[in-house]
Amino acid sequence: MFAAIEMKITVFFLDIIVLASQAFAWSHVDSEFTQEGLIAKDFTLVASSLQREHSQALESEWLSIQQKDQNDNLISVDCSTTPKLCKELNVRSFPTIRLYHQDGRVNRYRGPRKAASIKGFMRRSLRPAVSQVDDKNITSFTSIDDVVFIGHIPASDQLVERFRTVAEKYRDRYSFAIAGKRSAASVECHNNLDGLQHHLTADHLSTSSPSELEAFIKTCSTPLIPELTRRNEMSFYTTRKSLVHFFVGNDKERDTYVAEMRPLAKKYQEYLHFTTTDVNEYPNAAEMLGTRKGGLAVQNPNDGHTFPYTWDKPISAGTVERFLGDIVEGKVQPLGNKGGEGKLGPKGRSGHEEL
Ligand SMILES: *[C@@H]1O[C@H](CO)[C@@H](O)[C@H](O)[C@H]1NC(C)=O
Repeated sequence: MFAAIEMKITVFFLDIIVLASQAFAWSHVDSEFTQEGLIAKDFTLVASSLQREHSQALESEWLSIQQKDQNDNLISVDCSTTPKLCKELNVRSFPTIRLYHQDGRVNRYRGPRKAASIKGFMRRSLRPAVSQVDDKNITSFTSIDDVVFIGHIPASDQLVERFRTVAEKYRDRYSFAIAGKRSAASVECHNNLDGLQHHLTADHLSTSSPSELEAFIKTCSTPLIPELTRRNEMSFYTTRKSLVHFFVGNDKERDTYVAEMRPLAKKYQEYLHFTTTDVNEYPNAAEMLGTRKGGLAVQNPNDGHTFPYTWDKPISAGTVERFLGDIVEGKVQPLGNKGGEGKLGPKGRSGHEEL
């Protein structure tokens, strides 16, 4: 019964909010719009949604792309008013973003519903899955995207096919090119967000299974300071490195923290995982580690010791590095004072000089 009342109240106020924000609302194509309209242009990026409430987060991001780019290659479709079109386009889940090329090719977007990320997808989709580069334009290609893979693979090599297959699979997220010529095959990757480069060398490639190329893609594209989620947390706990947790309430807080800590995370990446956790998604996680939103805690998965950052000084790369140093020297008591001699890093390997 209470649920019914709550529903009524929500719907009532939602209607008011919707009316008030009408000026900035989606402007969907009308019911006359057909599939022919899509191929009238060389490409069209289409967002299909069903009910407004379910796509509000996407709506504001979409509008910001539309407004900034003045791009009439972007349209949005409300499948409740244009069901025929959505059926023709085979849209079954919502919201959906796809790029339709004039020649009939379609690229499907699977990333986060964020303007920057959608724009990246659009740029990638307008290039071939694998670009060709030579000595003159290879350098500019390395910085064309956040994550860029370049295969130095002779055209005759059987690796070309493998590289292409993987590129087709990940082309919505990363950029790929082949530079021919070199005698020994290798693949280089540029993670431009973190300023890191990775290489897969000839010996690796010659013996590698297709999954090795995929593993390489994962290694290079994983951010230096990733977001910890239920889905990926095991992969961090099983490496035996200690975790440096930070708890954020929104993307802006995350970006600020990541920018501040990136050099430190790079310096100690062999020993520590720096991560962020969204307190909205995981409301109890910070408390379990003795901290709160905006707080930091170091956790050693090997002995279960946790060290919440409780210093008065604000969290910065400098204070955190000193804090880590104090933990290693045994000057910081772990949460609950279990034993009191927490060490960072895997057992028997805590003798890293700088820590
Ligand atoms: C690089 O230059 C070559 C030769 O001019 C050209 O074929 C290729 O498309 C260029 N690649 C890119 C990514 O612009």
